[in-house]
Amino acid sequence: MTARPDLPHPNRTLPAGVVTLADHEQHAQGLLDDATWAYLFGAAADELTFARNLDAWRHIELLPRVLRPLAGGHTHVQLLGRTLPHPILVAPMAYQRLAHPDGENATALAAAALGAGLVFSTQASAPLDDIAKAFLPEPGRGPLWFQLYAQPDRGFTQELVRRAESAGYEALVLTVDAPVQGARDGERRAHFRLPDGVSAVNLAGLRSPPRVLQAGQSAVFDDLLTHAPTWDDIAWLRSITRLPVLLKGILHPDDARQAIGCGAAGVIVSNHGGRTLDTAVTTAAALPRIAQAVQGDVPLLVDGGIRRGTDVLKAMGLGASAVLVGRPVLHGLANAGATGVAHVLRLLRDELEIAMALTGCRTLADAPAALAQGDAPPRR
Ligand code: FNR
Repeated sequence: MTARPDLPHPNRTLPAGVVTLADHEQHAQGLLDDATWAYLFGAAADELTFARNLDAWRHIELLPRVLRPLAGGHTHVQLLGRTLPHPILVAPMAYQRLAHPDGENATALAAAALGAGLVFSTQASAPLDDIAKAFLPEPGRGPLWFQLYAQPDRGFTQELVRRAESAGYEALVLTVDAPVQGARDGERRAHFRLPDGVSAVNLAGLRSPPRVLQAGQSAVFDDLLTHAPTWDDIAWLRSITRLPVLLKGILHPDDARQAIGCGAAGVIVSNHGGRTLDTAVTTAAALPRIAQAVQGDVPLLVDGGIRRGTDVLKAMGLGASAVLVGRPVLHGLANAGATGVAHVLRLLRDELEIAMALTGCRTLADAPAALAQGDAPPRR
């Protein structure tokens, strides 16, 4: 962990006053140095999309219902052929050892114990098979998916996919919204560098392609984008794996339809938590349009700004099959390792149940009716 030098090394327990995800964030802020904070919790440019993601969920109103018989209700959902205890997954996030020395291992243990799905990042700071070994034996666990950044070297990508398959990962999540890095000004201002001992260990041995830029050429168009995946690569990826492939980072209904046309097993509506294109549409606004476009053909997941159980209920009401949670998991991790992550996931689930009870939802199939306005799109 890149802890502030004036603080003791973390083996912390949670203070009693931490009872919301916002409390977790506030508590974590005192524990990490400024550059690490800027990397983990910053966003692109003026951070408008990041802030608007949160606001967009907050502004959607719920419509309470009373006196309904709700005993025996539950938060179960169906996802890719499995019944999950609740619809909350941990989003893929790189370099979790920056937040706590136990990093991805702690996140995996907590997610497995809480029945939350886990999407493990290509850029994780822990070996992919260690995480599978920690996660898969837990009987009540959610799904374990591998988030893939397609590498310029197809052979390397194929080998990475093979390693994820043989470790027991159950789906691939291809992230498609970051062919170039967003303008992460905060990180640059803070001079963020990965410290010794934290690296993308699953990419060890990967060679960067030689730079071929001539004078006057663009580093974006003439270099980075010459290696970036395109729609043609989806067919290739599907041809080399038996795992279902979901696409993460879709905001346009036409892209969602094209993803399904290419055989995607699911679509994740995401703006990368505001870390790529600033002023991009919020995920709460994009979700119902995409749900309308995909008409329940494949599962639809969403992330970005989910901080309350009410946000989860709203996402489900707008057509999501499940949600992913990003930064709050890292706040919990920084605060108390696996215990902190488990607390974050437990809080969200408890809040979801309370929100369901107060809006008369016996199951999450009732979520569309919990929304105060608008017609809910078809869902799966
Ligand atoms: C991310 N995200 C991300 N996404 C991805 O597909 N691969 C990755 O390696 C990462 N890495 C990453 C690191 C950090 C520190 C953060 C905060 C985020 C994006 C992530 O999966 C998710 O889309 C957003 O974090 C969701 O928004 P919230 O919940 O953080 O608001």
